[in-house]
Formats: sequence, structure tokens, C-alpha cells
Amino acid sequence: MVKLTTIVGAQWGDEGKGKITDYFAKGADYIVRFQGGNNAGHTVMVGSDTYKLHLIPSGVLYSGALSIIGNGVVVDPNVLLREIAELKERGVKINLKVSNRCHVIMPYHIAVDEALTAGQGALAAGSTKRGIAPVCADKAYRHGIRLGDLLTPEFFKEKLRVSYDFNKNLLEKACGVPFPRSFDDIFNEYLDLGAKLSEFIADTDLILFEGYKNGKNILFEAAQGLSLDLDAGVYPYTTSTNTVAGHISVGTGVGFNEKVKVVGLVKAYLSRVGVGPLVTELPEDEAKILREKGGEYGTTTGRPRRVGWLDLVQLRHAVRVNGLTDIAITKLDILAGYNEISVCTAYEIDGKIRREMPASVYELRAAKPIYEKLTGWQNMSGDDIAKIIAGGYDALPENIKKYLEFIEKEIDCPITIISLGPKRAETIVR
Ligand code: GDP
Ligand code: IMO
Ligand code: MG
Repeated sequence: MVKLTTIVGAQWGDEGKGKITDYFAKGADYIVRFQGGNNAGHTVMVGSDTYKLHLIPSGVLYSGALSIIGNGVVVDPNVLLREIAELKERGVKINLKVSNRCHVIMPYHIAVDEALTAGQGALAAGSTKRGIAPVCADKAYRHGIRLGDLLTPEFFKEKLRVSYDFNKNLLEKACGVPFPRSFDDIFNEYLDLGAKLSEFIADTDLILFEGYKNGKNILFEAAQGLSLDLDAGVYPYTTSTNTVAGHISVGTGVGFNEKVKVVGLVKAYLSRVGVGPLVTELPEDEAKILREKGGEYGTTTGRPRRVGWLDLVQLRHAVRVNGLTDIAITKLDILAGYNEISVCTAYEIDGKIRREMPASVYELRAAKPIYEKLTGWQNMSGDDIAKIIAGGYDALPENIKKYLEFIEKEIDCPITIISLGPKRAETIVR
């Protein structure tokens, strides 16, 4: 039996990672976030209750497991404390440890994120303005603040001096944006936040290593998706962390060197919140209908998501970069009601057919989709879906099966999980 399972987004994020992580969480001993930050918004529906999680792993609703936020995650302490409080208020038992190596999002990071977006013009990714790129930049500059630093006032003060001065200068001198908050004010606030989080801050690498050595079941939950990965994605329209499965060791501090089940999350169509080329994007009059039907608004920012047809060039890339062993496909219920469904099998760029993702946005800007047209399926009522779930894969409408089998053949990866609704039970495992 595979003890290590990783859930990753195979597209532009928001594929349903929260739902599927929750689905796999039953039976896991550890559920681990290893990258991203509170730019993520993961939705879990249990019965009629909806949870929107930004930092805490989506398996938190199963009280048996330990939730871990690994060192690869960037943490806004205010957001984390709020999330913990909200879950506790709703009766969720919090069993959580956060790495002392996580970099801390400071107020000036959020201000720089805002200023960057204005300064980068057409090349800005349309960030969530949560301070992700600036905190990652400070980490690489080596003047970032880590969670563990907040627990040692003297050392925190020494580090904050450098980080604060750098960012205040960046804002005021380079970006021309005033940053009125004083050093002392931020120092005191973050010292207090550190104290409030101290019960959760730990050497999570040691905790996880112990579990790994003892053969425990570990479930990794990525945020974002393949095309938002800082290296593999559609740079510069990406996020600032690595979203791919290969990052689990870096982002947790444990060298996992055995077989991992890697489940790539695929929405049955595309959605994208943010800026940049989206080759299969629907024209706005058609997009509006799918957006409303699918509730395609950002979980974190509430922004309307751009939508389009499924892109197999992107999925081939996701299979290869992540080493996907399985695909979980979501929202087939939403893609219902079309007579004909388009699937992009390749791009045409400057008269040439390309089946693999080009590295450059310059090329991608010129890409035209080459579509295969498949016959659609009817809208399904709640009763229809319940019957299909009870009957399993064979009970799926024939045209859904044809859609899935076409995708599998094109990208050479089995689709083993099929989701027909947001709730836990609305899932078929093949
Ligand atoms: P994540 O960021 O990948 O976790 O995805 P989000 O939570 O941001 O967005 C996915 C949305 O789709 C959420 O509102 C889910 O509740 C919902 N969802 C997930 N799977 C399905 C499905 O199969 N059908 C429908 N109708 N909704 C789904
Ligand atoms: P989940 O985990 C969708 C997008 C932003 C922007 C780009 C950079 O819910 O799938 P950032 O704030 O990270 O600097 O923004 O990445 N983005 C997401 N889009 N889902 C997410 O997370 C995202 N996290 C970041 O819209 O285009
Ligand atoms: Mg999301």
C-alpha cells in the first residue's frame, strides 16, 4: 500500500484540491501543506457546512490526523490565527504544528505586493495581494523573518531592522509609496503574534521524519497549480513558490525517497483568476454562462474567474513535471448541458503544431488552440447524480466516459477519481 500521497493542481489552481484532499484525509496520519501561502483558498463541503481554508491543510476536519504547515509555506500570522479561531468556533478540533522555518508575511510585504502590481504593468500576474512575491523575495535576499524568530525578541529585533529598512526604502524611494507604520509598532505586534502562535510552532521536519520512519500515512496538499509554478509555469504569470509534487521534500525538510502516489487535480474545463495568456479562453458572452453555473469566483479574493475549454497541452505538461500517477477530475456536473464540448489537443504557433507547452510567454501569446469536438451530456439532477454515484463508473453517462477516455489516451495518465459535486460523497473512485 502506498503510504505517501500528494495532491497537486494540474491547471491554474482552484481545481478542487480542498475537496479531494478532504476525501483522501480519512486514514491519513499527517496532512501537510508544503508551499504557497494564504493566496490559496481551498473549499471543503461536509454535509451542508462549507469551510474555506487558506493555510491549514484541508484534512483538518478529520480529527485523527496531525495537520502540518511545512517550511515551504509562507505564513501571515494574523490570517493563521483567524483561521484557527474560526475553525475552533465551529467546533473543529485543531491538531496543528507549523514549521519554525516558515517565512513570515509582514505588513510591508503586502504593501510591496500592491506597488509591484502597479509597476509591472502588462507583465503583472494579477496577484492576490497577500504579500507572497515580496516575502519570497526577502527569503532569497536572506533578510526574511522566520516564524521561529518571533520567539526570540532580541534576534527578531536584529533581523527586523534589516528587513524593515529595506522594505520601507523600497516602498518610499523606489515605488514612491508612503509606508507610515513604525518599526516599534510592527516589532510589538509581531512579537505578540509569535507568542499567540508559540504552541503551534515546532520542528515539523523532525515530527514528520519520525512519522515517515514509522511507516505512517502522509498526505501532502499542494496549493495553486502547474501553470502557476514559479519554474514550470507560465512565467511571469505565476506565483512565487513551486507548486509541483517534486517540492514535497524541500517544503517539509524530509527526504522522501520512495513511491509517492501523485494525484493531479483537473477541472473538467479551465478557470483562471489573474492575468496572462489563456489559450482556450471562452469569449465573455459564453464565459459568463459557465462562470455563473460553476460559481467561478476566487475563493480568496472573490474575483470573477476567466474560464475556457480543457487544455491537454497543459495537462501533458502537468503529467510530466509532477510524475502524476492518477488524475482526479472535478466539476463534470457543471460541464453538462452542452451539445458539443471542445478539447484543446495542441497549439498552432506561427504555422507549426505544438503538442507540448512552450517555455516562453512570447510564443504562448501567439498560440491558437486546435480543438477536438466531443459530444456533450445532459444536465444531471441531484437524483441522477445520486444514482450514478451508487452505480459507480459504469453508471456514468456514455459521453462522460468518452470524454474521460479521450483525455486519458491523449495525456497517458489514468483518471481514477471522478467528482460530480462539491460534497464528500459526490465522488466516484474507479
Ligand atoms: P482548490 O483551490 O483547488 O481547493 O479549489 P477551490 O475550493 O478554490 O474551488 C473549487 C470549487 O469547486 C469549490 O467551491 C468546491 O466546493 C467546488 N467543487 C469541487 N469539486 C466539485 C465538483 O465536482 N462539482 C461541483 N459542482 N463543484 C465542485
Ligand atoms: P489555490 O490553492 C488560483 C494566482 C493569482 C495570480 C498569481 C500570482 O486556491 O488553487 P500571488 O498572490 O500568488 O502572487 O498571485 O497566482 N493564484 C491563484 N489562482 N488559485 C490559487 O490558489 C492561487 N494562488 C495564486 O491570481 O495570477
Ligand atoms: Mg482555490
